[in-house]
Amino acid sequence: MHYSRGIAAIVAALPATQALNSSIWVDQVPNYVRPYAIPHYSATGLVIGQQIYRFPVTGPSSDNAFTLISTNAPGSTSLGVLPHLHEVHYENFFNFRGRFQLWTEKDGDEETRILTQGDYGGVPHNTTHTFQILDPDTEMVGVIQPGGFESIIFASADFERDLFYALASANYSSPTFSPYDPSAVADDSSPPASVIASLQQFDVYAELDYTPRTDAVNGAAPANSTWHTGANALATNDSTPYFVAKDYGPKYLSTENGYQVIQPFVTPVQSAGNFSLSTITMDKLSNVTASEQNFAGHAAFEVLEGQLMVSMEGELLSLLQGDVVFIPGNTTYTYYSLVAYTKVLHIAQGAEGLDTTLIAGATSWDSPVWPTS
Ligand SMILES: *[C@@H]1O[C@H](CO)[C@@H](O)[C@H](O)[C@H]1NC(C)=O
Ligand SMILES: *[C@@H]1O[C@H](CO)[C@@H](O)[C@H](O)[C@H]1NC(C)=O
Ligand SMILES: *[C@@H]1O[C@H](CO)[C@@H](O)[C@H](O)[C@H]1NC(C)=O
Ligand SMILES: *[C@@H]1O[C@H](CO)[C@@H](O)[C@H](O)[C@H]1NC(C)=O
Ligand SMILES: *[C@@H]1O[C@H](CO)[C@@H](O)[C@H](O)[C@H]1NC(C)=O
Ligand SMILES: *[C@@H]1O[C@H](CO)[C@@H](O)[C@H](O)[C@H]1NC(C)=O
Ligand SMILES: *[C@@H]1O[C@H](CO)[C@@H](O)[C@H](O)[C@H]1NC(C)=O
Ligand SMILES: *[C@@H]1O[C@H](CO)[C@@H](O)[C@H](O)[C@H]1NC(C)=O
Repeated sequence: MHYSRGIAAIVAALPATQALNSSIWVDQVPNYVRPYAIPHYSATGLVIGQQIYRFPVTGPSSDNAFTLISTNAPGSTSLGVLPHLHEVHYENFFNFRGRFQLWTEKDGDEETRILTQGDYGGVPHNTTHTFQILDPDTEMVGVIQPGGFESIIFASADFERDLFYALASANYSSPTFSPYDPSAVADDSSPPASVIASLQQFDVYAELDYTPRTDAVNGAAPANSTWHTGANALATNDSTPYFVAKDYGPKYLSTENGYQVIQPFVTPVQSAGNFSLSTITMDKLSNVTASEQNFAGHAAFEVLEGQLMVSMEGELLSLLQGDVVFIPGNTTYTYYSLVAYTKVLHIAQGAEGLDTTLIAGATSWDSPVWPTS
């Protein structure tokens, strides 16, 4: 389909929860698999110290394909969680806004990076890790991929939500949609060691002997790390932690539906075929028809910049920054941008998602932006 400027202007003028009678827009995440879109800050949060955790995609809403988490908090002088590892969950950290520090340790290699907006850190199985929120208005995005919901370790199908329920002191909702509570006291952002140590049933193994290194220079340690100074490669296997600074990772240029620059953080190589995670930056759709997409695995988009249009199930959705759309496997949809620069985070189940497919048809590219003509 082709959308003229006139329709574009009308769509752009609709309020964020535009489809008043939409069956796709929700204000709480469904507890079963269905297509849905949820506005930023809409989902009820959980309180852990000063941190607010929201779950735009959960185990039940994705049939355990993956969980998508947003964490909002002010800066803290203490760790956001005590050091721990997961044996069967692959965890991914992405900086949506603000600044946080992430530490990883595996096989004696101790790494740390300070992540600013757009930076990524990958935490494979059995990696000791911890983080600290640094800036006053920080939003971390987490993607956690279960090792398979048949795992005997899961206390229930809803691993992460149950875990966070176990840790949370209260539920959070704000009629003003404040990202976090600015009046929350600053002293106990992390659950105590005794609680962390009791969480093995949730695949959380406390590593309380681990001491995070404090020698980061220019946001990184060890001293020879490349961080915002040169290219970051993805790990060559599914067991190595790694970090990718914004726009310093691998890049591909697709000419399908106009220009799209795909920057993978996780490909089937790093996830052993279990999921993929990329940013996709696209130009304004002009003179082409957005082609229909359909993938066997579940997928989600979170808008990072601009405005993403998604057409599915007879509805046309307009998503702005922080909004999330969940697209069940085998759902036909189109997606495109009607503004000059739109960037999304894309998460796909399995080894054949949208980002992996686009990369297969794209060319290697050395810029985060597309050609001028
Ligand atoms: C939405 O649904 C209500 C009740 O079903 C109806 O009265 C209203 O006209 C609908 N609005 C739109 C914009 O379709
Ligand atoms: C993680 O560590 C546990 C305990 O040592 C081990 O059984 C498991 O195989 C490890 N997982 C991976 C993916 O290496
Ligand atoms: C991928 O999924 C398989 C099957 O659920 C699991 O055994 C394996 O540990 C996972 N690997 C990674 C790297 O996530
Ligand atoms: C938060 O809400 C859930 C669902 O209503 C409830 O099960 C849970 O007990 C609440 N948690 C707290 C700490 O109040
Ligand atoms: C970085 O330095 C450490 C020792 O400080 C060394 O073990 C490691 O191989 C170095 N890495 C690179 C990429 O040079
Ligand atoms: C994964 O790659 C790292 C870095 O190249 C290497 O040190 C490690 O031995 C590899 N692990 C496996 C299981 O292949
Ligand atoms: C788009 O289509 C219009 C009308 O057909 C044409 O005038 C214009 O040159 C086209 N633009 C591009 C970039 O192809
Ligand atoms: C989509 O359809 C394929 C082929 O029938 C099937 O293997 C796959 O499990 C389906 N995906 C979902 C999420 O149901």
